[in-house]
Amino acid sequence: MYINFNPNDIIHTDEIISDLKTYLNENETKQIFIITDKNCLKLCYPLIKSVFPENQSVFSIEIGEVYKTLEIVTKIWDFLFEKRADKNSLIINIGGGIVTDVGGFSASTFKRGISFINIPTTLLAQVDASVGGKTGINYKGLKNQIGTIAMPEKVFVSPRFLKTLNSDDILSGFGEMIKHALIYNEKHYFELINFIKNEFTEKKIINLSSLINESVNIKIHFVKNDVTENGIRKMLNFGHTFGHALESYFFSKKKPVKHGIAVIYGIICELWLSVKYVNFDKEKFTKIAGELLNIYPKIFIPEDEFNLIFGYMQYDKKNKNNTIQTVLLKDVGFPVIQRVPDKNDIFESLQVLNSLSKENIK
Ligand SMILES: NC(=O)c1ccc[n+]([C@@H]2O[C@H](COP(=O)([O-])OP(=O)(O)OC[C@H]3O[C@@H](n4cnc5c(N)ncnc54)[C@H](O)[C@@H]3O)[C@@H](O)[C@H]2O)c1
Repeated sequence: MYINFNPNDIIHTDEIISDLKTYLNENETKQIFIITDKNCLKLCYPLIKSVFPENQSVFSIEIGEVYKTLEIVTKIWDFLFEKRADKNSLIINIGGGIVTDVGGFSASTFKRGISFINIPTTLLAQVDASVGGKTGINYKGLKNQIGTIAMPEKVFVSPRFLKTLNSDDILSGFGEMIKHALIYNEKHYFELINFIKNEFTEKKIINLSSLINESVNIKIHFVKNDVTENGIRKMLNFGHTFGHALESYFFSKKKPVKHGIAVIYGIICELWLSVKYVNFDKEKFTKIAGELLNIYPKIFIPEDEFNLIFGYMQYDKKNKNNTIQTVLLKDVGFPVIQRVPDKNDIFESLQVLNSLSKENIK
């Protein structure tokens, strides 16, 4: 296990079986353990199963954010112990962001860290969660409070897996892609919106390869010189101060919202703060928010619950001296870190999100 980030370790491939075979042959001596989830065990693992020995040891976790916990990690450690995994073993995470976060965390802590590779099977995991070495679990109902930074030895990104994703998970993946575009490249934003509006069907998701490549390259740009997130990597948190708080809030109400969809609502709130704090063009805000709310489900948050959401924001990892710090945009492609000292401004952004959702109901 290591924390050096090498963009060449991310392999975009249409030939995942042969690429995996080559990789495993080069790492012949290693004992392999697979971590996946119940859906991927049925839908994704069979697509590459032939690469592994028969009776391969597989640990499969239940579906959902509710299982991204220390209890699951403990079960994975137990599994690795029982199977006599050692420092030379290799963990292969096959799944979405929950599997790569939990599997990566388990690998990076077992015996102080063993090697792992990621085979992301959701759009979100391919463009974001499996790349860059952040691993982690939720704690006390709050997102990603415990974790490590540990690089996968390789990430194999293959469009092969995407065919079976449902439309909510595809939209969730687009959420992080839209974030990447907004912090880096307006042209890519237009390409994405165009694709989603005109071409996107569950079948055509497989035609996304060039957009996935571009999105991963944007992530690489922000991570490569700042693995431990002391500077530029922080910009990848755009949309996440509100996004994580909204995700935790809806989770607590037993109406979970997919991560990338919560990030879209976060983006709208943080763009509104960008207008107020750093002069983001108001017309551009209206246009982008309208485009996003035409694609994503409308949302309504009761005003008497705003305080709860503000409460979740108090645990955001970017905060300094108990003041909320978030990523805002001076323009598309120009992110900045900004203190938001006034709670009323947070509430106002949530009100704006509510009222734009109402306006955009067709
Ligand atoms: N570490 C990071 O840098 C990072 C970045 C972004 C998000 N995340 C985390 O990622 C998680 C979200 O990831 P996600 O959206 O992939 O969620 P997920 O892992 O829950 O996957 C979504 C759903 O898709 C199913 N699935 C996976 N692959 C499939 C396939 N090929 N066909 C059909 N179904 C499939 C899963 O079983 C699950 O039901 C969140 O916990 C978030 O915090 C981490």
